Amino acid sequence: MSVHISANKGDIAKVVLQPGDPLRAQYIAENFLENVRLVSKTRNIFYFTGEYKGKTVSVGASGMGCPSIGIYSYELYTEYDVDTIIRIGTCGAYSTDLKLYDVLNVENAASESTYAKYAWEIEGDILPHQGKIFDLINDTAQSLDIVTKKTNIHTSDIFYRKTPGTPAVAEKYNCSAVEMEAFALFANAQYLGKNAATILTVSDIIPTREEISADQRERALKPMIELALETAIKL
Ligand code: HPA
Repeated sequence: MSVHISANKGDIAKVVLQPGDPLRAQYIAENFLENVRLVSKTRNIFYFTGEYKGKTVSVGASGMGCPSIGIYSYELYTEYDVDTIIRIGTCGAYSTDLKLYDVLNVENAASESTYAKYAWEIEGDILPHQGKIFDLINDTAQSLDIVTKKTNIHTSDIFYRKTPGTPAVAEKYNCSAVEMEAFALFANAQYLGKNAATILTVSDIIPTREEISADQRERALKPMIELALETAIKL
């Protein structure tokens, strides 16, 4: 047991898929894994462990934002000996260069967040994915014919803001899209010497306000989920 996860040691696999939403974690467990067990439900942040094509995999939520993923990923890495976390989430595109349903493999996360600096004394406003999992995702995507774009993204603490447009840090690093967690995940993994990647599906195009509707979301996220699981079994 850790402070925020009630699973027993050994109940969580070495590789964890981490969506933001606990119900998405449940959907993945119920529809993609076999022999599934619910191993933690503290704060309704569900963690499940099961098998995908014979490989033991866990799936559990990060919650929203750097503080939340900072807590869950830290406890997974340090209290449950997790080696690899693959965040699977949605993002908003900053321009019409991206389309709804595009799948992104995050190369670097740029952020105004002070998380890395104040947690680990890691300076700078951009952090790379950690370890070899990013390359493995690219190779797996190619073999599955899932078109995946390698890109920098913006990890923002802000969802609603006064002035629309692309914030300075996103312009500075040519970030194609925005989400709210990758920077803190990469910071924890870097400090702890672990593996971390983030795969995102474009769920909205910010300038045109197009978005994937709630009932399209499950189907929309399937390629990303399969990509993460097919990568996980190679670890
Ligand atoms: N902003 C931040 N995070 C997001 C967005 C967004 O527009 N869309 C999906 N995740």
